[in-house]
Formats: sequence, structure tokens, C-alpha cells
Amino acid sequence: MNRIEDIVLRHADREGPLLPILHDVQAEIGAVDAATETRIAELLNLTRAEVHGVVSFYHDFTAKADPRPVVQVCRAEACQARGIEAMMRGAENAAGDRVRIETVYCLGLCSVGPNARIGDDLHARLDSDALAKLVEEA
Ligand code: FES
Repeated sequence: MNRIEDIVLRHADREGPLLPILHDVQAEIGAVDAATETRIAELLNLTRAEVHGVVSFYHDFTAKADPRPVVQVCRAEACQARGIEAMMRGAENAAGDRVRIETVYCLGLCSVGPNARIGDDLHARLDSDALAKLVEEA
């Protein structure tokens, strides 16, 4: 059984399995490309257009794998109020081409922002230096 079939099978009992399947494919394979959309559509008895519609609606899915480390930076209201925007230039300079900085809107830690996430690790109460260091070490 290939990896896509394995992921689809894992969600076989769910109602509305497409989104969790796509998240698992993105996390485990690194991308949801056209061939993957077609295979998922076949397995779920959907059209490729239906699958592609969901893939293209969400920013979480990429058509090509990007091997760079990702730092997710929260730029939603509470983190904005705590100064995240002024910290972004330093973070982007620290990232260069080596690290991908991804904007997210709320990591659920609003009272202790500005916040960022690398993988499953959340980082709170960031200032400019702490965020730049986090990016450099990603
Ligand atoms: S607004 Fe940044 S964690 Fe909620």
C-alpha cells in the first residue's frame, strides 16, 4: 500500500475526511501535488476539482515540497498589539533564504504574545532579539 492510500485509509471512518487527509499528506509527504489530488479524489470518490478546490482554498497546502525549516509567526490582533509587526524585518533578515517564515493568525496564546511556533514547539513573550535568535536556530 502506498503512503497516500495508507493516509486515506487512516481516516476512512470519519465523516468529511478530506481536510484531515490533506493535512496528513502535507505533514508526512511535504506537499499536495496534482497527482496526489487525483489519487485522493479516486480514493474518496470525488472529482479532482473538488479536491483541488479545498487544496487551493487553504494556505496550509503547497504543491511543491519545501525542505526549509518553517517558523510560524503570529500576526493576529493580540500579537500585533504587542509589537510583532516591528519585529518582522529582523526576523526576515535572520531568515534570509534558509528559513521560511510563515504568517499565522493566532496560536492560541494571545495573552503571552508575541508568539511563534516551530513544529510542535510554541514560543511566547518574544521580543526582537528572541524572535531573530529563534529564526537563526531553526
Ligand atoms: S493573537 Fe497571537 S497567539 Fe493569539
